[in-house]
Parts: sequence; structure tokens; C-alpha cells
Amino acid sequence: MTIATEPLTPIFGAAIAGIDIAEVPDPATVAAFDRLMDAHAVCLLRGPVLDEDRQIAFTRAFGPLDVGFKQVAGRNPRLKHHEIGDISNLAPDGSVAARSHRRIVSNIANRLWHSDSSFQRPAAKYSMLMCAVVPSWGGETEIADMRAAYDGLPQRIKAMLGGLEAEHYALHSRFMLGDDDYSADQRNAIAPVRWPVVRTHPGSGRRHLFIGAHARSIVGMTVPEGRMLLADLLEHATQPRYVHSHRWTPGDLLVWDNRCTLHRGRLFDLSEPRELRRSTTLDVDAPELAA
Ligand code: OGA
Ligand code: MN
Repeated sequence: MTIATEPLTPIFGAAIAGIDIAEVPDPATVAAFDRLMDAHAVCLLRGPVLDEDRQIAFTRAFGPLDVGFKQVAGRNPRLKHHEIGDISNLAPDGSVAARSHRRIVSNIANRLWHSDSSFQRPAAKYSMLMCAVVPSWGGETEIADMRAAYDGLPQRIKAMLGGLEAEHYALHSRFMLGDDDYSADQRNAIAPVRWPVVRTHPGSGRRHLFIGAHARSIVGMTVPEGRMLLADLLEHATQPRYVHSHRWTPGDLLVWDNRCTLHRGRLFDLSEPRELRRSTTLDVDAPELAA
């Protein structure tokens, strides 16, 4: 079958037909999909609701898997594979979990704009989010294009950002929301990392912002000055013209490139079930930071 694409927005994103997500892709399909991702930064694939095994098998074809925040949160008894992120509000028995459940509280931070695992090295490359159950309203996932956002910055801001690095820390987004019930071991599980605020996306050669809720400071600035700069950049970068909002249907597999996009989940009624599963590849080819 040939691969067909349809744009999701005027500036980025594509819906893809012709890739069977229930099969492990062969090398030619992997290469074709990588090119689509380089061009569009977010791709929507549709198919059956994949079980964990099939989702892992599909994702693994694109690189080694990321564990990410689960290094802090620990094992989730609901899921078979530690590499799958449980983006649901469900308890192990399948019922809707209490709003005060630790994982429900922690997952609230997914509603802040972020790039998955930007708090570690290597960070995440592709996130693949599979939809199983949608609530009756809300719960969309929004993605913002950090290449277009960089292009849209005033020249003097671009000049100001040259050479700047941000420090990213796994618990910063949680702390911002007042979710601070973490042990010393959890706080130290992933040491903070530094990334340039402006990077070049290897597959497209385009510059992009690399920011989001895990970034807690700018190296060489006071904390308030750095945080305010990050807040100003985020406000610019998440204007509606840079954003795609995805309304979920079960069987959707939304794939985004964490290197050059930010995403967030949207409000829904936590008493209704919402179930998505995320598998993620590591950005093992990221160039090391310049000294
Ligand atoms: C994620 C995420 C947002 C959402 O899966 O990484 O941030 O819509 N999800 O649940
Ligand atoms: Mn995320």
C-alpha cells in the first residue's frame, strides 16, 4: 500500500494512511515514517486499539525505549510493560481511580506544556500515544510546533537566546502545581540536565525552541529572570497559530517529535474514564552539548 498524507494544520502535522500500526514496520517503512516525522513533527496513524505488546513492538522499530518519569514514580501494577506510560485515570482493577491517587495527582502535570523526558539525557525522541477510551468531553491533546515558534520570534529575541542553556528537572512541573509528596530518593532519581534553549532539528535542519514545564532555570541568570524568560517564550510559542488540538478516537496513535514540539493534555471530568498508553523512544543520536 502506498502512504498518503493529509495536513493537520496549515503549518505542521499530518494524518497518515498506508502504515499498518498492528504490524512491526520493515526498514523501508521505518525510513519513510522518519521522513514524514522530520517534515511534519506530528503524525496521526489510525488502526485498531493496540495492546501493550503490539504497541511496544511497533515503537521499538524506531529506537530504544524510554522509561522517563517512571524512574521516579516506580512500577505501575496496572500495566505489563514498564516502558508504557499509563496516561489514564484508572486504578489497577480498571475502575476510575480516586482523584487523590498518587498517579492521578502526578499526571495532572501533563496539562502543562512540556517535551517528554526533557529532564534526562538522552531525552525522548518520538512519543506514541495510543487511545483506548475517551471521556464524553475534553481530554484533547495539544501539540505546538517549536520550529515555527522559533521562526516567529523577533530578531532581537533570537539574538538574545544564542548560547543560552536551560536546566531541566523531572519534578519541577510537579512542584509548580504543589505536588511535592516525593521522597529524597525520588527527588534524586534523575539528576537535572542542561539543554540549549535553541537547537537545530537534525531531520529538517530547522532551528527550534527547546523549553517547556521541565525547564526550571536559565544557566547564568537569576532564577526569576530565567523563569520569566522561559514563561515569555512559552507564551509566544503556544499561540493558537502554532498549535494543533487533537480530539481523540479510540485506535488513534498520535506520534510527536519531542525534539521540536511541546504538548499538553486538556481538562476533562476526572470522574469519567480516559485511557491512553504512551510508548516513547530515546533520542540517542542527540549531539552532546557544546562546552
Ligand atoms: C503524554 C502526555 C497528555 C495527555 O502522554 O506524554 O503528556 O493528553 N499526555 O494526556
Ligand atoms: Mn507528555
